[in-house]
Amino acid sequence: MKLEGKNIIIIGGSSGIGRAVAELCLELGANITLTSRDRAMAEKVALEIGKPTIGLGLDINSEEEVLDFFGSSREIDHVYIAAGATKLGPLTGGTLGENMQAFNTRIMGSLHVVKAAVDKMKPFGSVTFTGGISTDRPIAGAWVSGLATSTAEQLARVLVMEFPHIRFNAVSPGYTDTPMWDTVLGNEKTSILANVAEKLPVKKIATPAEVASAVVFLMSNGSVTGEVIHVDGGGRLV
Ligand SMILES: NC(=O)c1ccc[n+]([C@@H]2O[C@H](COP(=O)([O-])OP(=O)(O)OC[C@H]3O[C@@H](n4cnc5c(N)ncnc54)[C@H](OP(=O)(O)O)[C@@H]3O)[C@@H](O)[C@H]2O)c1
Repeated sequence: MKLEGKNIIIIGGSSGIGRAVAELCLELGANITLTSRDRAMAEKVALEIGKPTIGLGLDINSEEEVLDFFGSSREIDHVYIAAGATKLGPLTGGTLGENMQAFNTRIMGSLHVVKAAVDKMKPFGSVTFTGGISTDRPIAGAWVSGLATSTAEQLARVLVMEFPHIRFNAVSPGYTDTPMWDTVLGNEKTSILANVAEKLPVKKIATPAEVASAVVFLMSNGSVTGEVIHVDGGGRLV
């Protein structure tokens, strides 16, 4: 897999899967721009990852901010969108507006990015979205995630028809050990993830680096478009 000299933008590259994608792309010779909502955080992570990585601030909930960001961008080979979080809780808890915020970040945010980025993309460059196991294995209390992951995966297919000169794909991670679970599960993270791992055919939770290698495959293989790659340890089968 070669990315030598490619210009790659990683939306939500300050942490977890996005950060792992940035690290792998840099190793493969790409020029990375990574983002966080917190510009100082993006700059810090870019410095940690190493030159010539650039860190910039961006909240993909703001269409204006996204338009400005891509307006001043150089030509782009690949975009990976990791930005987002999960929202747990019953449909009847909280208002729909509150509950759908996480969905909106992942889907409206992704659409803001595509709309702003397409004119800057090189022909047959790629955009990769992040789906997830809850598309195939929805669970009670994670309905927001289930809707967001399935829509992100469908975006990869519908956008191929909209912009055939750009490749659109999605990676679909199963449970992956990232800081997102520290926030969602707190002190129970280790025991809950160990319990999940025990039930998986591979008996382990995915690492961000394992998900990153699937993202890099989707970027670097010029014949792959409209595809969803699962990195779930066989979680869809059990
Ligand atoms: N970990 C899993 O098991 C798993 C499984 C399936 C799918 N996913 C999905 O994979 C994606 C990455 O997850 P992760 O586990 O790597 O989480 P993470 O470590 O919490 O990273 C999330 C990234 O998204 C950024 N972000 C969040 N909201 C944003 C916004 N409005 N605008 C721009 N950036 C934003 C964060 O940046 P700042 O906070 O610095 O702004 C951070 O860089 C998420 O969409 C998640 O739902 C994760």
